[in-house]
Amino acid sequence: MLHVSGHSIGAPPPAAEQRLLDGQHASWPDAKAARIGEGTRGKVLWGPLQPPQHGHGSDAAIKMIRLDRFPESHREGIARQIEEERLRLLGGEPPFLSLLAANTDPSQPATYTDNQGVQENVLCVAMTPLGDEWVELKRIFEGTPEGERAHDVSAALARLEEGGFSDKAITAFVDDIGVITRALLLVCAVHIAALRQGILHYDGFWSNVMLRRSALLPSTPATSLSLNDVWLLDLADTLIIRPPTPSPQTDISPQPPAPPSFMGSQAVMLPSSIPRRWAEGKMPVSTRWITAPELLPATVRLPGPADSPPPTSYCAPGTRVL
Ligand SMILES: Nc1ncnc2c1ncn2[C@@H]1O[C@H](COP(=O)(O)OP(=O)(O)OP(=O)(O)O)[C@@H](O)[C@H]1O
Ligand SMILES: [Mg+2]
Repeated sequence: MLHVSGHSIGAPPPAAEQRLLDGQHASWPDAKAARIGEGTRGKVLWGPLQPPQHGHGSDAAIKMIRLDRFPESHREGIARQIEEERLRLLGGEPPFLSLLAANTDPSQPATYTDNQGVQENVLCVAMTPLGDEWVELKRIFEGTPEGERAHDVSAALARLEEGGFSDKAITAFVDDIGVITRALLLVCAVHIAALRQGILHYDGFWSNVMLRRSALLPSTPATSLSLNDVWLLDLADTLIIRPPTPSPQTDISPQPPAPPSFMGSQAVMLPSSIPRRWAEGKMPVSTRWITAPELLPATVRLPGPADSPPPTSYCAPGTRVL
């Protein structure tokens, strides 16, 4: 029998498998079909996450970053540790998803074996999966790869003009603008809710906001929108702005200063030195043209002659990673 990459021609391809250090695992006969998302850094697969031995697994969205292919594995390890810590801290309280499992230490990675049998080291964070009834904000504005059309104010206006401002054209226009308005209302609501939980999400505008499709429909009154209709993803880029006092982190010296009282009850001190930020679990990164202007200055990278090397691992309060 002919073998290619350890797999016999004619035989079904081996199942792809993700295995965490603690023994939890997931497998996919066709990993491509299980892919529910792709970010700048990694991919997200929908899979039944199985316990180490026997027993019932639970559906999970497993976000994984392939370390061997990623040039900045050190930075990525810290980002994933922050994401894990934030999800743990927030405990699945909406608008944040529940953490189901994590393996985020680059020195002790999980493994992922693809359908060709090729194994790689990965970092992963598993959380509650959001199915087809959810859509990311950017898909509303640019359309979906599956062919759902974009909601675009200029295009809606053009259709209104082409329709000669007829009743039908006006109804279609109002419906279109209604979808956009509902989406934007939910984005505001989700940030207000996150701030109430002490979280400032830097990168939750174009990406990382998931909206309930049915809540956007013209038949849904805007007054019935609620926090049940929206989730925030991707918490590595967030800052904790409450409590205003620093949480004790034994491996950080000197301890981060507390924000001055005139800054109010929700504030955070952001070091100008990048390694120092990493050490404090503060990595606000965002797409510049989408960031709120008052937040932009903090994400501009400053040259740091006084930068000391970053720590090998970010340690969340109470969690020793190394
Ligand atoms: N829990 C989930 N349920 C469903 N889809 C998800 C979930 N988490 C992530 N996704 C999908 O996967 C995509 C990538 O996830 P995420 O944004 O967390 O990764 P990233 O690599 O950090 O992305 P970014 O490009 O924003 O840096 C999301 O945009 C979303 O479409
Ligand atoms: Mg994202």
